[in-house]
Amino acid sequence: MLPIVDKPLIEYAVEEARAAGIEEFVFVTGRGKTAIQNHFDNHVELEATLRSKGRENELSSITSSMGAPGQFAYVRQMEPMGLGHAVWTARNFIGNEPFAVLLADDLISGEPGALAEMAQVHADHGGNVVALMEVPQDDTSRYGVVAPGADDGTIVEVLDLVEKPDPEDAPSNLAIVGRYILQPEVLDFLALGERGSGGEIQLTDSMARLIGGAPFNGVRLSGTRYDCGTKVGFLEANVAFALDRTDLGHDVADRISRVLETHRRDT
Ligand code: G1P
Repeated sequence: MLPIVDKPLIEYAVEEARAAGIEEFVFVTGRGKTAIQNHFDNHVELEATLRSKGRENELSSITSSMGAPGQFAYVRQMEPMGLGHAVWTARNFIGNEPFAVLLADDLISGEPGALAEMAQVHADHGGNVVALMEVPQDDTSRYGVVAPGADDGTIVEVLDLVEKPDPEDAPSNLAIVGRYILQPEVLDFLALGERGSGGEIQLTDSMARLIGGAPFNGVRLSGTRYDCGTKVGFLEANVAFALDRTDLGHDVADRISRVLETHRRDT
């Protein structure tokens, strides 16, 4: 629910998924996260107030984030046992169809949106698709990393996947960003509950077991990824998104210059 400029992070992920044609959403949450459910619901009193004051712009920014009844479901992970476990808790909503996973703290800028780019690769090649970016070799231990095969500069064949390898063991510096289009068979491997890196049930480990069955490709994203799970990445995303706004960008640039001047003078 942390805002990037004036919208919660989670809403960017929902908008990105909608732009890729996704119509049904499952949010994996935990205790104390009811603000997410309330955000995507009616705000009866607020809407009535805005309507009575004729504040149509504010009203439409609130109502546009809502889904139709039944499009949004919520499931609690109950125990923090890893990303693979989080995905597995949604299994009864996913059923036996391909599905997308978006980690909302990875915010990705650009048009048509990361998931739409990946959906195109899925439409062309089928199988499984993950988002990729190059990272400094020293940072491989923060990510899932691919062993690349055929590579046309955008689409990369995935030959293997390793979760958080030490730099000297990493098969490349191509890291997974938090966007996935997966075949439902991954849920069968997740159901085994095997622990991997950090003692957690890792999505990467179960994805690796899909390789060799259906096609498995990575996509180098055209947009920029901001790691909003870190303080610096979160602040960077706010600045970058504010600078890109036609209604705010100019003023924000002025203010940033002023802050930098003051900072330089005082330090
Ligand atoms: C998760 C995944 C990892 C991926 C990363 C992207 O790690 O396990 O494979 O590279 O997201 O943000 P986490 O950031 O949850 O440790």
